[in-house]
Amino acid sequence: MSLLEIKNLSFQVGTAKILDDFCLSIEGAEVHALLGTNGTGKSTLAYLIAGCEGYHPTGGTILFDGRAIHTFKIHERAQLGITMAWQEPVRFEGISVAQYLALKHRDLDPAPFLEMVGLEPVRYLTRMVDRSLSGGERKRIELASILALRPRLAIFDEPDSGIDMLSIYDIINVINACKEGDSAVLLITHREEIALIADQASQVCRGRIVSFGAPAKVAAYYKSRQCSACETEVCADDRP
Ligand SMILES: Nc1ncnc2c1ncn2[C@@H]1O[C@H](COP(=O)(O)OP(=O)(O)OP(=O)(O)O)[C@@H](O)[C@H]1O
Ligand SMILES: [Mg+2]
Repeated sequence: MSLLEIKNLSFQVGTAKILDDFCLSIEGAEVHALLGTNGTGKSTLAYLIAGCEGYHPTGGTILFDGRAIHTFKIHERAQLGITMAWQEPVRFEGISVAQYLALKHRDLDPAPFLEMVGLEPVRYLTRMVDRSLSGGERKRIELASILALRPRLAIFDEPDSGIDMLSIYDIINVINACKEGDSAVLLITHREEIALIADQASQVCRGRIVSFGAPAKVAAYYKSRQCSACETEVCADDRP
C-alpha cells in the first residue's frame, strides 16, 4: 500500500475541469516531482491533498495510509502528518522564529534547521516572523519549519520561488533532509535541477498526468513540448 494514493481525482469549478481523472501514488520516503506549465493544476492538486478551504474534489478519492482523507479538514490532515510549504510563504505576526520552528516539537533545538536553510541562527532565532523579514528569508524559515515538523508527507509548492539563484543547493538539501527523515515529498517545481533529485516524476498537462517515470525521462518529454497541442493523441497515448 502506498502512503498517498490519488485515484481518479477531479476538481471542477463551473464548467472548467481543473483536475480531470487524476491518478498518482507516492510511497513513504519517496520524492515525487510534479512538472508542468503554468495553470495546469499543480497547486490545485496540492490544496486538495492538504485540504485547503474551498477545495473539495468533485470526483475520485485521496487515500493516505489506505484511509480516505478527502473529506477531512486541513488540521485533521495535518495531524495525520500532511504538511505544505506554500508557493507564497505565510506570515505569523507576534511569534519569533525560534517559537515558530518549535510549534510542534517544543523541546526541539531550532538552530540546525536554520543552518540547513542558510540562515545564521544567532541572527534569526529572535527575529519575529513578520514583514520585517525579506521574502526570501520568510521562505527559508518556512522550509526550515517543514523540516522541524518532521511530517509524513511534505508538499513543496515551488520551494525555490523567491530564493536567489545561487541558493538552489539549500533547497536540494532541504528536500534530501526530508527524505532522510523518512518523509515522503511531493515536489512541485519549474526548475529541472531540483526535479532531478526526485525518485519519480510526473508531468501534468491540463489537469491530467501525461508522462510518468524517471525524472530525467519526464523532464526530457516535457522539454520536447510534445504536449503543446493536447487535443492530439500525444497526451492520451503516453498516459501511465
Ligand atoms: N477556485 C478556482 N476558480 C477558478 N479557477 C481556478 C480556481 N483554482 C484554480 N483555478 C484555475 O485552475 C488552473 C490551475 O491552477 P493552479 O494554481 O493549480 O496552476 P499551477 O499548475 O499551480 O500553475 P503555476 O505553475 O502557475 O503555479 C488555473 O487556470 C487557475 O486559474
Ligand atoms: Mg502553482
